[in-house]
Amino acid sequence: MPNELWSPRSWQQRPASQLPVYPDPAALDRVLAMLSRLPPLVTSWEIEALKRELAEACKGNRFLLQGGDCSESFDACEPDAITKQLKILLQMSLVLVHGGKRQVIRIGRFAGQYAKPRSSDIETRDGVTLPSYRGDMINGVEFTEDARAPDPVRLLRAYERSALTLNFIRALIDGGFADFHHPEYWDLGFVAHSPQADEYRRIVDAVGASLLFMETLSGLRVGDIRRVDFYASHEGLHLLYEQAHTRRVPRRTGWYNLSTHFPWIGDRTRGIDGAHVEYFRGIENPIGVKIGPSIAPDELIDLARILNPRDEPWRLTIIHRFGADRIATCLPALIDAVRRAGVRILWCCDPMHGNLETTSDGIKTRRFDRILSEIDQAFEIHRAGGSRLGGVHAELTGEDVTECIGGARGLTAEDLNGAYKTLVDPRLNYEQALELALLVARRMSQESS
Ligand code: PEP
Ligand code: CO
Repeated sequence: MPNELWSPRSWQQRPASQLPVYPDPAALDRVLAMLSRLPPLVTSWEIEALKRELAEACKGNRFLLQGGDCSESFDACEPDAITKQLKILLQMSLVLVHGGKRQVIRIGRFAGQYAKPRSSDIETRDGVTLPSYRGDMINGVEFTEDARAPDPVRLLRAYERSALTLNFIRALIDGGFADFHHPEYWDLGFVAHSPQADEYRRIVDAVGASLLFMETLSGLRVGDIRRVDFYASHEGLHLLYEQAHTRRVPRRTGWYNLSTHFPWIGDRTRGIDGAHVEYFRGIENPIGVKIGPSIAPDELIDLARILNPRDEPWRLTIIHRFGADRIATCLPALIDAVRRAGVRILWCCDPMHGNLETTSDGIKTRRFDRILSEIDQAFEIHRAGGSRLGGVHAELTGEDVTECIGGARGLTAEDLNGAYKTLVDPRLNYEQALELALLVARRMSQESS
């Protein structure tokens, strides 16, 4: 579809769901004007580098690992939480590189994951009804009238927190934090007590030995491996915020969203005629679209044609999230439709969002065995359909939380109160995330053998 009629604000002519209504529109306009003059958070050349890597993933030469918080919080913008998040993603990617024999693209759900879609606009507690929490970019999580009112100043705070997070991540990487020669830099305190510790240590030793072998053989230090990169991503939900970051770049054509490398459209806002699809179709970034059981095969093909009219291999990642008991009925028809239409997409499995449940105590959780089962089925269904699973997308944290049930340590519903910290959806803790990576690596090595 030609882009003539597109502009960074053309989405405003379409129905937009999940957007907050601000009590003071003039204050909102002032903030947006300010945001649109502030420096970008990421650069076009970083986005171009990610495109090259995603194009490789689409051909089967790389694997995508996307993970992080369901919802970042302003409070958790602190060095310890950020380094832990990087550490777990690094450990998982080391396991995937080792098992899958493919380079891994690391994309964090961080530095901007501050806006959440909600199934209800309101929340009622003890007879009191208030607007739902929609992410720190929009309102506060505390259950008070004041906190729950959308406040445009939060858009600036989100921009600043994103910049602080990215600044710290870049500094850590430049300082050698992510050096594959020094996996001890990314050890997490409790790794030694983890049920997966031995398997992980064996992998670290094997990678160290291969590096040493290559360096001894060539007489050169393996420079490329010194530096691994992270990319940032968030759900591009708050379109006014995204629009304010949509810029032209000297000597390049088109418009880039410079608030993040890889924005995605959520399952609730992917309507063909809706505002979100309209906004996303015009930006130059690689993008993701989350899809759940309600999508029809034709709808997926329409989305692919609208969002990726030139059929670029880097452009469109489809992140499916059906749930362990629905993936087998939902996915095969979609794979088939994509093959018949001949559209290019990178398939990624989110085993989290189709597997939410509530315990008898009313706590939102996910069962680890269902998460693993969905991943396992995803590999198999893609293989059987002549397609390939190219990545995983997970909500996880480097912290020792108790939000999902199961895993090698056997967390139960009774354990959930111990360290339940998430603001929205339950995340895998450090050990569960590593266990998931070990499963994916095993699957990848079976595929390539
Ligand atoms: C999310 O990723 O936190 C989310 C809300 O996902 P989905 O759009 O797949 O429901
Ligand atoms: Co979530």
